[in-house]
Amino acid sequence: MNSKTLQNQITYQKTMINANLKYFKPSTAKKQKTFLDEITLSLNNKPKSISPKFFYDETGSKLFDEICSLPEYYLYDSEIEILSNIKTDIKSYIDSEIHLVELGSGSSIKTRILLDTLYSLQTSVEYFPIDISDILTHSTQELSSIYKDLKITGIIDTYENGLNFIEHYDDKPNLVSFLGSSFGNFNPNEGIDFLRTISAMMKESDLFLIGFDLKKDESVLHNAYNDSKGVTAKFNLNVLKRINTELNADFDLSKFAHHAVYNELQGRIEMYLKSLCTQTVKIPDVNMSINVLKDELIHTENSYKFSISQIESKLEKASIGINKIWYDSRNYFALVLGQKI
Ligand code: TRP
Repeated sequence: MNSKTLQNQITYQKTMINANLKYFKPSTAKKQKTFLDEITLSLNNKPKSISPKFFYDETGSKLFDEICSLPEYYLYDSEIEILSNIKTDIKSYIDSEIHLVELGSGSSIKTRILLDTLYSLQTSVEYFPIDISDILTHSTQELSSIYKDLKITGIIDTYENGLNFIEHYDDKPNLVSFLGSSFGNFNPNEGIDFLRTISAMMKESDLFLIGFDLKKDESVLHNAYNDSKGVTAKFNLNVLKRINTELNADFDLSKFAHHAVYNELQGRIEMYLKSLCTQTVKIPDVNMSINVLKDELIHTENSYKFSISQIESKLEKASIGINKIWYDSRNYFALVLGQKI
């Protein structure tokens, strides 16, 4: 059998890489708005914006890895510190063989810590990364060469469809992980919707592990998004380079600057590209000229920071009970283990 049809009528095409590594991808890809459609629309909006999902081309992904290794970007180190320290603790919440499900194909180091934790409990482990992008095929090949016995089933689809796929896979419980500060990139309504979707898809025996970046001293936040080496600026500006390359636009990168500010009222870091002069950007393929004023801001991403009571109330609204909250030594980041109630 090389395809699988689920209750929700999606037919998946199966690709076997080797005995332990396979991918499922929907055979009938839904028609999505193209990069060009989305960019032309959002750059003509008031205020102008570019969706953060376009950050991660090959260069963008490499620059983000570089951000994670910066001393100022505490998020990455803090979460690794927690994951490394909770290995024993987390075991007390697992009482039978459990699968690892990861929303987003993830940084392999964090995945490896979780896999090592499960391997210390059970003899065999199955790992199910879910990601909308084909990037999953690369990240899993490396993992597969390190963990020779690990059974990996990648699902290239939305989190919702991927979870639906896994919940019908077998009766074993899943540890569903959503790491990093990704939750903070949703706006508040999207965040609740996301949690409700996850909660609706989970079995009662499943565990949910989710990372939240906490509210903290503003200077710490500022420096994390305005690093001294300028890597964050490069990462933010790279999206313009990508639009130039892929959509034949003529953004002059030297006429834009990275701009990140903490909006205390909203509790979020706001990322923008700021125009350094009045200018016109052209996308000749669609006969388009975009006028940008001096100091005009193009919004690229929000990164929300949470208090513990906000975290508790969000999870409660999605019927997810909290088993345990772990913190790093600086109390910068929280990792929450929850379960459907
Ligand atoms: N998701 C990351 C975060 O919120 C992304 C990120 C880090 C980012 N630095 C950035 C996005 C700078 C835009 C610009 O922390």
